[in-house]
Amino acid sequence: MKVIIGPASKGLGERIRLLSGLGKINVHTKEFPDGEVYVRLLDDVKSVDALIIQSLSPPQDRNLMILLQLISAFKANGGGNASVVIPYMAYARQDKMFLSGETASANLVAKIIEAAGADRVALVEPHSEHAIQGFKNRIVIDVTRSFAKYYIENGFEKAYVVAPDKNAAVRAQRLAEMIKGGFGWVEKVRDKETGGISSTEGELNPAGRKAILIDDIISTGGTIIEAMKLLKAKGASQISVACVHGLFIGNAYDKIRNAGASIIISSDTIENQYSNISVAEDVVRALREKNWL
Ligand code: R5P
Repeated sequence: MKVIIGPASKGLGERIRLLSGLGKINVHTKEFPDGEVYVRLLDDVKSVDALIIQSLSPPQDRNLMILLQLISAFKANGGGNASVVIPYMAYARQDKMFLSGETASANLVAKIIEAAGADRVALVEPHSEHAIQGFKNRIVIDVTRSFAKYYIENGFEKAYVVAPDKNAAVRAQRLAEMIKGGFGWVEKVRDKETGGISSTEGELNPAGRKAILIDDIISTGGTIIEAMKLLKAKGASQISVACVHGLFIGNAYDKIRNAGASIIISSDTIENQYSNISVAEDVVRALREKNWL
C-alpha cells in the first residue's frame, strides 16, 4: 500500500505516512484560469493499493472535486484497492431533509465519492452517524485521545468538560473520562429557518473549576460563545475551547478569544492557521486496529 496525499491534507497526510511507514504516490494539481481543477498522479499505480487522504475543508467543493479526481485517476491507471481517509467531511451537517424542498447533501457526497471508485472510507469524527449512512463500507475514527493528551500535558487534568449541545455530549463525556474530569452539557436550539441559536443550561456545575468546551465543528463561533456565557455565569475559573474541525469563519477565532477563552485548540483535520494539534496518531492507530494498514 502507498499513500496519496491530497492538497487539503498535506500536513496530516504526511504525518500519517511517516507514522505508518508507507511510501508515497506523488500528485500534481493545478487550477485552470477558469477555476477548474486538474489532477495527475506522477507515479505508476498499477497493482498498488492506496490510502488516499484528502480533507473536504474549505473550499469544500474544490477539495471534493480534487478527491474525486484522485480516486478516479488511481482507478483509471490500474490502481488496486482505494481506501479513502476523509479527515473532515463537508456537508455532514445537512444529514437529512430538514425542510421541504431540500436534499440530504451528506448522502449525495457519500454517493459520488463511492461512484468515483472509493472501495472503503474512513471518516474522522463526522458530524453524525446519519451523515455517513451513504457510505456502504465505512469506519469512523475517534480522535479524543489526541485531545486528552494535549489537555493532560497542559494542566487541564480533571477539568470539567462541557458539550455546547446535547448532540456533542458523547465526545465531551469521552474526553472527561480520559482526563478524569467532570462532565456537563448545554442545551442548544437552532432555528431551522434563520440558523440563529439560543442556549440554556442543561447540566452544568463548573463553579471554581477549569472548564473545557468541546464541539465537533466551530464555524462562526456562535455556539461556543453562547455556551461560554453560561459557563462564566456559573463560575468556571478558566475556559478552554476545543473542536475537532476548526473552520473559524471570518473573525470567529478572535471572537472566541475576546469572549474569554484562555486556550483554543483545533486539529489538523482542517489545516489552517488555527490547527494546533494533530490527530495522526489516532488515525494510524484506528487504521491498524481495522487492519487497513
Ligand atoms: C452543529 O450542530 C455543529 O455541531 C456545531 O455546533 C456548529 O457547526 C457550530 O457552528 P457555529 O460555530 O457557527 O455556531
